Amino acid sequence: MKTRSYKIAVMPGDGTGPEVVNEGLKVLKAASKKFDFKYIEETFDYGGDRYLKTGKTITDQELANLKKFDAIFLGAIGHPDVKPGILEQGILLKTRFGLDQYINLRPVKLYSSDFCPLKGKNPEDIDFVVVRENSEGLYKGMGEFRDKGKSNEVAIQISYNTRKGVERCLRYAFEYTRKRNRRKKLTLCGKTNVLTYAWDLWQRAFDELKKEYPDVITDYAHVDATTMWFVKNPEWFDVIVTDNMFGDIITDLGAMIQGGMGIAAGGNINPQGVSMFEPIGGSAPKYTGKHVINPLAAICALGMLLDTVGETKAASAIENSVIKVATTKMKALAAGKMGYPTEKIGDLVAENL
Ligand code: IPM
Ligand code: MN
Repeated sequence: MKTRSYKIAVMPGDGTGPEVVNEGLKVLKAASKKFDFKYIEETFDYGGDRYLKTGKTITDQELANLKKFDAIFLGAIGHPDVKPGILEQGILLKTRFGLDQYINLRPVKLYSSDFCPLKGKNPEDIDFVVVRENSEGLYKGMGEFRDKGKSNEVAIQISYNTRKGVERCLRYAFEYTRKRNRRKKLTLCGKTNVLTYAWDLWQRAFDELKKEYPDVITDYAHVDATTMWFVKNPEWFDVIVTDNMFGDIITDLGAMIQGGMGIAAGGNINPQGVSMFEPIGGSAPKYTGKHVINPLAAICALGMLLDTVGETKAASAIENSVIKVATTKMKALAAGKMGYPTEKIGDLVAENL
């Protein structure tokens, strides 16, 4: 049998990014031994510190170079000394768009009722996945100022939705729902009652596509109502598909009901290309170097990475180990409240594989 081998680009990034990435790499090393695959990792220093020294975010050439890898493992982007937007647009969004990672996949799964801020909700109640469109919508950066700085100023920000972009996202969501095979229910989360251009297109594309997936139960919820159901009846959801902006917002709420940013992971997926996996919590600069940040989200992101490249056994072993460590060892999932330093959590997950 041919040995399986992967080229992984590692972008630790800013703040606590490097600390959590280290723990992810520790688990990768343990998984490769146990499941008998090889990998080559190459580290890139894209982030706030490099930007402050060189003025560079990520260049077109660097972006093109990332296409040579099987997957990217990202820590976090965001630096307190850099004006908001520069690194986010110049590195994170540029990579998502440049590598055409048109899906942002964010599982919301509760591992123990102890971690849930909602009264009476158990792991079987909170187990859904958000499929967020990741290349268009309000994130396209389209718009303009008129009479900037004047009292009659107007700022226009456009939500850009192409039929192709919407359809490929919806198709991914239908296929994912079918493959996940849990309740086989796909909810379109939108705002058809107010945003009557964008969501008319989404709804029409959804209604057409669903004819091809008669085995998938379909549903629709407005985004505001969705946030209400996340708190009141999260058990209603299986897979949710939505646009870039709504997906950004509802997945932060999703992270909170699954136990917080310490456990929430996501994947920026190009099904035909190079995908990038990250903990969704950001760089958390105030915790940098304090050994208190929870690395489980990064470890879960690493698990998603392995699942995507085809190491499904390793991925589920990592998930099981995370569950075991979280439920039998840790006091809490929040930074500084875990009962262990960052490094020890990584050791425990690696040992329990
Ligand atoms: C996320 C983040 C990013 C986003 C920011 C940092 C650009 O909030 O991954 O959810 O808005 O997509
Ligand atoms: Mn976000």
